[in-house]
Amino acid sequence: MAKRVVSGMQPSGLLHLGNLFGALDNFMRLQAEHECFYFVADWHALSTNYEDTARIREYTREVLIDWLATGLDPGRSTLFIQSRVPEHAILHLLLSMITPVPWLERNPTYKEKQENLEGRDLSTYGFLGYPVLQTADILLYKGDYVPVGVDQLPHLELTREITRRFNALYKTVFPEPQALLTEIPKVPGTDGRKMSKSYNNTINLSDTEATVRAKLKTMVTDPARVRRTDKGNPDVCPVFTVHKSASQQAVIDRVNKECRTAEIGCIDCKGLLADALVARLTPIWEKRRELVQMPKLVDEVIAAGTTKASAVARQTIAEVNAAMRMG
Ligand code: TRP
Ligand code: SF4
Repeated sequence: MAKRVVSGMQPSGLLHLGNLFGALDNFMRLQAEHECFYFVADWHALSTNYEDTARIREYTREVLIDWLATGLDPGRSTLFIQSRVPEHAILHLLLSMITPVPWLERNPTYKEKQENLEGRDLSTYGFLGYPVLQTADILLYKGDYVPVGVDQLPHLELTREITRRFNALYKTVFPEPQALLTEIPKVPGTDGRKMSKSYNNTINLSDTEATVRAKLKTMVTDPARVRRTDKGNPDVCPVFTVHKSASQQAVIDRVNKECRTAEIGCIDCKGLLADALVARLTPIWEKRRELVQMPKLVDEVIAAGTTKASAVARQTIAEVNAAMRMG
């Protein structure tokens, strides 16, 4: 039987190059070989943003538009919105009955996020149960593979533990999902830190060419290379790291060599990177423009994805109810 791939993305902002080179390129590769379910995890976004829900709906739509513009194909992959398939909440509730609270309290991302997101009260039931909802997301479609970044590995481990517990308590309904960590590059943002919406250092898929070029001009480089005549070290330069994801091998090799000898300057080097990014993003921009002008088409894609996902989800809930002698 074909393997099932399940993954979700939170609608916490506009998608950027980090999402493209990290997750989306991977999603795209996988849709060629497997049966893929990709959804926008709007309920997960609530777990940290429940106080300010004003933009979740808008971002959910933007994420779907970015997915379609990038090349996720609704003919191959099932693309949908988590909250439109209420079976996610049903399975979440049932799994919450069998998940020991200490497993959730031990989750390293639980403590980290609570400390890092200052000013928000994350002592909620929903935030603690975040990985249980994520487990429901995956099991609802009997996912075999879950493409995620390393930061999600603790969640995936919990998913596997909850899966084993369910299968042992009732009946083997679910395969044990595996994380797929296919060499996801860490894409640095314009300030050199990891590209992330919360650092305000992103280059977005919806930026214009002028914005991309302007943002690159401000991007930090090898800090030791102050003057044009100074020799640089691409190994410590975030611009070079992005080159490695975006540029042709010949350009990467050239920068790698000519930076060290000061043959190329940072302005020209950034110009080459801008050209590569513009080449990569131009088809996405064109598709985006089309989609924004055809809101009905986007609605239809979402409706069709929801219908397909719902059919699978209902079937799984029927099997779960039977295994648990419920319903
Ligand atoms: N927690 C994931 C993230 O923040 C998003 C997510 C929600 C997810 N449900 C999922 C990922 C199910 C994979 C499978 O990136
Ligand atoms: Fe970085 Fe390029 Fe400047 Fe070298 S030439 S320091 S790789 S921006």
